[in-house]
Amino acid sequence: MRKRASSAQSRLVLVALIAMVLALAPASSEEIARLQKLMEWKAGQTIADVGAGEGEIGFAAAKVVGEQGRVYLTELDEKKRKGLEDEVRTRALKNVTVVQAAVKETNLPVACCDAIVLRRVYHHLTAPGEMDASLLRSLKPGGELAVIDFSPRKGLSESDPVEGVPANRGGHGIPQKILVEELKAAGFKIQKVVGDWPEDSYCVVAKRE
Ligand SMILES: C[S@@+](CC[C@H](N)C(=O)[O-])C[C@H]1O[C@@H](n2cnc3c(N)ncnc32)[C@H](O)[C@@H]1O
Repeated sequence: MRKRASSAQSRLVLVALIAMVLALAPASSEEIARLQKLMEWKAGQTIADVGAGEGEIGFAAAKVVGEQGRVYLTELDEKKRKGLEDEVRTRALKNVTVVQAAVKETNLPVACCDAIVLRRVYHHLTAPGEMDASLLRSLKPGGELAVIDFSPRKGLSESDPVEGVPANRGGHGIPQKILVEELKAAGFKIQKVVGDWPEDSYCVVAKRE
């Protein structure tokens, strides 16, 4: 009896560990290339990586937009924001600006962006309504927002619950349907919904008209 309980516990720990590894995995070069194609990034554009973490997506975007373009990397977490600033200095990047994000505000200039990306960030937003309004304001008319996220994962919800988010998320993650409804309610026009994104994720692209 005790043996069965401990093997069930080990399975649970394993599921939680796998879920955590998947959730923390940085964007691969294949994933970034797919995003670049989907959003049609071009030289000269302004692109923001909101909740950039280690900044893989933003640093790749900086190569595409080139000297005439600009990339904003935003982070709520001060330590991560400082890490991004160090990395920008080390790489001597002239076309990348790091921004301290806020809970309800991107803190990006108004109507600055051709494209904004949130990868695995949206389900952490504790004030999604206000942040959606801020994201919309940060885009140029015709600009696009891509949200890469995943449905709630059981193991992750148990091992690493997200604090302070709306109850309708149903765990660590966000159902695609709820994300689409929230973006529409904020005034975005849904352009594309890609269901087969890497690591059991999805990608929703929405436009500011
Ligand atoms: C799971 S990490 C994803 C990091 C990165 N985008 C990636 O794909 O590896 C979620 C990040 O969102 C950041 N975050 C949460 N709320 C935020 C907000 N309101 N504005 C900006 N960043 C936020 C967290 O500090 C954290 O670094």
